[in-house]
Amino acid sequence: MPNRLQGKVAAITGAGMGLGQAIAILFAAEGARVVVADIDPITGKETSGHIHAQGDEAILVQMDVRQALDAERLVRTTVDAFGRLDILVNNVGVQVNKDVVDTSEEEWNFVVDTNLKSMFLCSKYAVLQMRQQGGGNIICISSLSGLVGNGLQASYNASKHGVIGLARSMAVDHANDNIRVNVVCPGSMNTPLTETIPEEKLAPYREANLMKRFAAPIEVAQAVLFLASDDASFVTGSALVADGGYTTL
Ligand SMILES: NC(=O)c1ccc[n+]([C@@H]2O[C@H](COP(=O)([O-])OP(=O)(O)OC[C@H]3O[C@@H](n4cnc5c(N)ncnc54)[C@H](O)[C@@H]3O)[C@@H](O)[C@H]2O)c1
Repeated sequence: MPNRLQGKVAAITGAGMGLGQAIAILFAAEGARVVVADIDPITGKETSGHIHAQGDEAILVQMDVRQALDAERLVRTTVDAFGRLDILVNNVGVQVNKDVVDTSEEEWNFVVDTNLKSMFLCSKYAVLQMRQQGGGNIICISSLSGLVGNGLQASYNASKHGVIGLARSMAVDHANDNIRVNVVCPGSMNTPLTETIPEEKLAPYREANLMKRFAAPIEVAQAVLFLASDDASFVTGSALVADGGYTTL
C-alpha cells in the first residue's frame, strides 16, 4: 500500500478539476486526509466523491481563494475536521492571454489576485496554524511562465514569477518554524484550463517541449507529492520544474 502521506492532513486549492484534482486524489491514495477547496461546489464534490469512492477521507470547502475571510475559514474548517493542517497546496491559477496594452486593469487584478494574492492569503493562515502545531509544508504551483517570458501573458507571467518570489521569501521566514515551502513549475498539461486555449496557441508549446507532448496532470501531481512527503525533508525554497524540458532550450 502506498503511504507516503500517512497521518497527514492536506488542503488543496482548486481541487475540483485539472491538476488540483489529480493532487487531491493522489494525496488521498497516499494516506492523507484531504480538504478539497474550490470555488465550484459541483466539481469540488466530484473530487471528494472520487476520494470517498476509493475508500479515503475528504471534505469539501467551497471558497474563493481571493478572499481573506475564505482563506481563514479554509484553515479553521480543516482544523475543526481533522485537528491539524500539515500540507497546503496553493494550486489555483487562471489565465488571460493578452499583452500589457490590451490587458484591462480589471483583468490584471483578476489574474494577479487569483494566482498570487490567493497564495499570500492561504499561506498566511496556514503558517499561523503550522507554527502552533510545530511545523508544516507549503507547495505553490507556478508554471514554466514563472521562469521565462511568454508572449501575450503579461498578467499570468507576472503572477507566476511572483509565486516563486513569495515562496522563497516564506521559505526563509519560516524555516525556523519547521515549515518547508517549495514551488512546482509545470509545463503545459491537458486540463480544462488548456482546453480553453486555441490549438494554434498551444502548438508552439508542444513543439518547444523536448517530449513533444503535454503532461497528464498526474505526472505533475507526482512532483508535488515528492515535495509534500518526507522524501523531500531537506528540500525548501526550491522551484521544481516539471515541464518536459521546455525551459531547457
Ligand atoms: N494547465 C496547464 O497547462 C498549466 C501549465 C502550467 C501551470 N499551470 C498551473 O497549474 C495550476 C492548475 O491549473 P489547471 O490547468 O489544473 O487549472 P483548471 O482551470 O483546470 O482548474 C482550476 C481549478 O481552480 C478553481 N478555481 C478557480 N478560481 C478559483 C477561486 N477564485 N477560488 C477557488 N477555486 C478557484 C476552478 O474551479 C478549478 O477547479 C494553476 O496554478 C495553473 O496556472 C497549469
